[in-house]
Amino acid sequence: MAVKISTISALVVFLALLSLSHFSHGELQLGFYNKTCPDVEKIVFGVVQDAFRTNSRLAPLMIRLYFHDCFSNGCDASLLLDSTTSEKTAGPNLSVDGYALIDAIKDELEIKCAGFISCADIIALATRDLVNLASGGKARYEIPTGRFDGRESLASSVNLPGPQMSVSDTVEMFEKRNLDLTDMVLLLGGHTIGKTHCSFIKDRLYNFENTQGPDPAMDPKLVKELKRECPENSKQNKAINLDQNVSSSNIVDASFYKQIKSGRGILQIDDQLATDEMTEQIVTDLAEGDDFLARFGQAMVKLGSFGVKNKDAGEIRKSCRSCKNRFCTA
Ligand code: HEM
Ligand SMILES: *[C@@H]1O[C@H](CO)[C@@H](O)[C@H](O)[C@H]1NC(C)=O
Ligand SMILES: *[C@@H]1O[C@H](CO)[C@@H](O)[C@H](O)[C@H]1NC(C)=O
Ligand SMILES: *[C@@H]1O[C@H](CO)[C@@H](O)[C@H](O)[C@H]1NC(C)=O
Repeated sequence: MAVKISTISALVVFLALLSLSHFSHGELQLGFYNKTCPDVEKIVFGVVQDAFRTNSRLAPLMIRLYFHDCFSNGCDASLLLDSTTSEKTAGPNLSVDGYALIDAIKDELEIKCAGFISCADIIALATRDLVNLASGGKARYEIPTGRFDGRESLASSVNLPGPQMSVSDTVEMFEKRNLDLTDMVLLLGGHTIGKTHCSFIKDRLYNFENTQGPDPAMDPKLVKELKRECPENSKQNKAINLDQNVSSSNIVDASFYKQIKSGRGILQIDDQLATDEMTEQIVTDLAEGDDFLARFGQAMVKLGSFGVKNKDAGEIRKSCRSCKNRFCTA
């Protein structure tokens, strides 16, 4: 009898654990909204395409927003919540934007498919479409949906890599999110588009690791050009293209890898990818045309499956800027 009871309680504990693991983990599917909102992907694309025509900044902004949202708390749109202490108020997220586009898509979907589409899926779909548009239609990937929106968003739970971290520390952070070394090199290919600011690179130009000189990994010609854009004592914080190939700085393509191979990466982590023995070969292959566009899409899909919430752990917000449930930490 005693044996039987402990067997039963073990079974109960096992089942409880099983349901717990089901409790928060979302399962993604291609066409999750087939029945509830069959045109969702068409509707999203329509809004995105119109916005893209008049604002070429949207692609880099949204790609970065997707990365920041997914990387820390999982892809749960926690970055979208408005409050004085939410994630978007913290340092690294201050230059993140694209929120108005998400609002516009959400408004449209609340008219056509009210209550069904999560903000987290809107981010994933809009990012996919912007990658496609910014690659001139060459990078098109399918992305599964079924994410639910999170109810926690705190600036104090910051967890993003910094541009001065080593490759090995950076890959450790990616591995904690089920992304391997190759995924990391592919995802940093996101820096094929968009901009940074002088404040992130002045140390590389003037006082690299307290040497009073520039980072020796940076092409001296580029150092000279950037010093003109970013004078040492200027308070002006100019925007600098992350992809220094003038003919493709606002295009999603593989030229970023060619640039970093010749010391023309802007952020320190970018140039390091090309020289670190862990990543050097991967970079060379991608620079030589190893199908970056298709592989970038797959890495984005993988990033988009991290920390996904199911309907018990999340919700479908009415406005992407605020939780529906009153038990919300933002
Ligand atoms: C080690 C990882 C990473 C570091 C340290 C990093 C760091 C940065 C920094 C410092 C900026 C410039 C911000 C500014 O000046 O306002 C930036 C911009 C950007 N990052 Fe990353 N990033 C990383 C990974 C990624 C990944 C994985 C993606 C996407 C797949 C991404 C996409 C972007 C984009 C598109 C921009 C340009 C944003 C714009 O033009 O407004 N980054 N990143
Ligand atoms: C939705 O439809 C697409 C295309 O017909 C199909 O590939 C996909 O498996 C469907 N997904 C679901 C969850 O029904
Ligand atoms: C930026 O947003 C991410 C993802 O939403 C968040 O987890 C992270 O903590 C935020 N960064 C900062 C500095 O708060
Ligand atoms: C610069 O971009 C163009 C257009 O995408 C590309 O054909 C070329 O290979 C790139 N060159 C370098 C050196 O990155």
